[in-house]
This record gives sequence, structure tokens and C-alpha cells, in this order.
Amino acid sequence: MNCSTTEASHSLKHVAIIMDGNGRWAKMRSHQRVWGHVRGSGVVANIVEKADDLGIDALTMYAFSTENWCRPQSEVKVLFALLHKFLIKESLRLLKNNIRFKVMGDISNLPIQTKNLIAQLEVETEKHSGLKLTFAFGYGGRNEIVQATNNFIKNNPGKELTEDALQEYLLIPDLGDVDLLIRTGGDQRVSNFLLWQIAYAEFYFTQTKWPDFTVNEFEEIINKVSTRERRFGDVSTSINLENNIEKAKLNKGLMRG
Ligand code: IPE
Ligand code: IPE
Ligand code: MG
Repeated sequence: MNCSTTEASHSLKHVAIIMDGNGRWAKMRSHQRVWGHVRGSGVVANIVEKADDLGIDALTMYAFSTENWCRPQSEVKVLFALLHKFLIKESLRLLKNNIRFKVMGDISNLPIQTKNLIAQLEVETEKHSGLKLTFAFGYGGRNEIVQATNNFIKNNPGKELTEDALQEYLLIPDLGDVDLLIRTGGDQRVSNFLLWQIAYAEFYFTQTKWPDFTVNEFEEIINKVSTRERRFGDVSTSINLENNIEKAKLNKGLMRG
């Protein structure tokens, strides 16, 4: 479905997912960890389609962290191969559904064929106005902030860095703040994902391991979280963080002693 024609019944614009639990899912079934990755990779396209149907503006999926480089080479190779397979299998659907596709992170060590596929798909979809689908691959949140800071300093020698300026130097600035961060697999941690962007995110942790995650559970989570009261520092429901930042500045000025 074309997202630009979808009416969303929720205010969750940017949803991020830590797709975790593949290895344990496989171990529980007496399989090798990589089998969990194979099965998990089959879930991704369904969730992308559902996010599009639900009128979500941006979906950012954690596929490989900077820390995941410490895993055995054989496992890393399978993850590379699954990314490649996804790109081949899903590119037509991404094109047809007006989805803008990007990868964020350091992909310099990926095979050249995969890098070419990514570059091609990013160019082909860059003008798309539907769901902003981003895979975080070779991604680390601390690294993104340090890189943004260094690039700002390079381009603005002697100038002071502001929050707004740093936002502009993030890897994909127009994704904006995360409204909802979902982590599957039962662990309740952030594992270096989107550290800047989750400042006011709602968190949802599910025991479900990624290969068992369904579109129904995804929709249930969206519905549940949509009813949460988001206050952004105020005493009652607030519309968004930007308004409250302005209001807070104003109030602080008024109270200056
Ligand atoms: C998530 O599943 C996929 C990646 C981190 C690449 P895991 O491989 O971390 O699975 P568990 O957490 O060990 O079960
Ligand atoms: C986070 O999962 C990274 C991805 C899902 C890609 P990990 O399994 O690597 O996280 P930790 O090691 O449990 O924190
Ligand atoms: Mg894990």
C-alpha cells in the first residue's frame, strides 16, 4: 500500500525496532544460531508492509551493530548474505510501494555486490514519499554522535555546537526523534541504538523472539503505545517535544531572578 495515502490512527511517526532473539530462538529448537537469523530475516518484509499500512512515517530496524563485529566470522557472513538476499527479493516491492530505502552505518566491509545493490536502491528510492525504511547496519549510536560532532566542527570552525545543529549532522536527519522503540527477545536494553534520537521515545519490550514476531503483535503494540500519555516534561499530555522545549525556555526566562 502507498503510505502517502494512508490515514494513521496514531501519532507514532518514527518507530525503531531492535530485532533481537534470533540466536536463542534457534538454540531452543536445537538448531545453529544462524538458523534463527534465516527465519528472522523472513519476518522483516511483513513488518515493513504493516508499518506502511499503519501509516508510520519512518521505520528504523537494527540489523547489525558495531559491536556485532565481535561475533564469529561464519555468523557475520550469514548476516551479510541475508541482507543481500533481502535486497534482491524485496527491491521491487519497495519500489512499487513508494518506500524510501536507506542503510545507515559503516558498510565499508560488506561485499562489493551488496554495497552496489544498496547504492542502487537508495538512488532509485530517494525521491519516494512513502515510508522511510532504514536498516541500521554496522551502526553504533555513540559513533553517530561523535561523527556528527566532528563533521560539525570541520564545517563550522570556532562555532559552538547546538542541539539543532547536531541533529542536522546525524546520519539521516529527516528521520527525526524516535517515538517508539520496540525490542524483541526479552532483554531490556538499548545496545547502542539511536542514542540521540530516543531522548523521549516510548519503550516497549516484548519476550517474543524476533523470528516469532508477527504483524498482529506489531499492530497491538502500536495500539497499546498510542494510548500512553506523553508529557515531554510537562504535567499533562503534550503535543510534541519541540513545543515544550520552546515553552520551557520561555518559562525559564520569565523566572530569572
Ligand atoms: C539479533 O539476534 C540479530 C543480531 C544481533 C544480528 P541475536 O543473534 O542477538 O539473538 P540472541 O539475542 O543471541 O538470541
Ligand atoms: C542488538 O542486539 C543489535 C541488533 C539487534 C542488531 P545484540 O544481541 O547485539 O545486543 P546485546 O549484545 O544483547 O546487547
Ligand atoms: Mg541478541
